[in-house]
Amino acid sequence: MQKFFTLNDLDVKGKRVLVRVDYNVPIKGSKIGDVTRLKASIPTIEYLLKNKCKLILMSHLGRPKELFAEGKTLDEVKKELTLKPVAKELENLLGKKVFFAEDSITQDSVISHIPNEDIVLLENIQFHKGETKNDEIFAKKLASLADVYVNDGFGQSHREYASFCSIPKFLPSCAGLLVEKEITIMGKAMEAPDKPFIAILGGVKISDKIKVIENLLKKVDKLLIGGAMIFTFFKAQGKNIGNSKLEEEYTDLAGKLLQDKKIILPVDIVIDNIPNGWIGLDIGPKTIENYKQTLKNAKTVIWSGPLGVFEFEKFANGTKEIARFLTTLKATTIVGGGDSAAAVEKFGFADKLTHVSTGGGASLEFFEGKKLPGIEALEESYKRFG
Ligand code: 3PG
Repeated sequence: MQKFFTLNDLDVKGKRVLVRVDYNVPIKGSKIGDVTRLKASIPTIEYLLKNKCKLILMSHLGRPKELFAEGKTLDEVKKELTLKPVAKELENLLGKKVFFAEDSITQDSVISHIPNEDIVLLENIQFHKGETKNDEIFAKKLASLADVYVNDGFGQSHREYASFCSIPKFLPSCAGLLVEKEITIMGKAMEAPDKPFIAILGGVKISDKIKVIENLLKKVDKLLIGGAMIFTFFKAQGKNIGNSKLEEEYTDLAGKLLQDKKIILPVDIVIDNIPNGWIGLDIGPKTIENYKQTLKNAKTVIWSGPLGVFEFEKFANGTKEIARFLTTLKATTIVGGGDSAAAVEKFGFADKLTHVSTGGGASLEFFEGKKLPGIEALEESYKRFG
């Protein structure tokens, strides 16, 4: 199990605390499309406020680096990817003033002075090139703003960036309540799961999930597969897949994986007819029933990736029915972030599951068995200051 400080271990009373959150949320105009990540950061914010701390929150939004590479100016990038609407929304959720430090950020300089407010949200941290370069000088300047550092941004903890990996070199550092929860629940599932342990994997591409499949096969009792990646497996079995999604170059590997009898594939699928053939877009009723039978005695279930094109009512049934069934189990039920988290949220089951991760890529890498750099940095800090 990981060993790092948690909020409980550090004396934060009255201190200035730099908190890395993940507010990388969909924004249309100035409207936030999904406030889940904002809400997930509130327990840590409230804990620190209760301890009379001054909070400096920092996050990225989108990928400024890609826009700079397209030749856009800082002003243009700022317009597209400012965190200002997030500050407003956070203020609504907290019922408390959130000072947005927009003027203090330029590409070359780091804030030298921040106001003495209870909560300050810095402008998009990736407007600074030093962030994605994991630049220590940049990190040191940020660290100089505070007495303590908290990582509560699980969703980006798989990135080797300054706000995760370098700041802990300069400050006593700990995991926030969200990161602690994510790592504790998912860590237990991966390292000491109550058995039977069953994984459900969906999604479009087998290539995205190969490492997860290989790692999970060492741990689970059964691995249920859904989503468009089933067609690469079907192809490996010599089945006709119509015009369904195929990753041809992964067919051999899919065939090899199928030698492990823990893998269970759908027995029927819901199709959409198009003039040149058909496309499979969801798992069918017999498969749903089979999967429920396999899942009914599970004590731990992890799920990553939708089982069909749940965005369309016609092809949402598999994902919805399996999600509903998970809520009835006496088991630890964990949904990895990204699309599967969006699906259980959409169907209203998120609160009835043990844990829905706020991390997309981060939870996937966690299921791959990789050490997340942001978590490793906390462990290093524990060794240094512990
Ligand atoms: C996410 O949305 O999964 C995280 O915030 C990571 O964002 P990134 O893939 O742009 O680093």
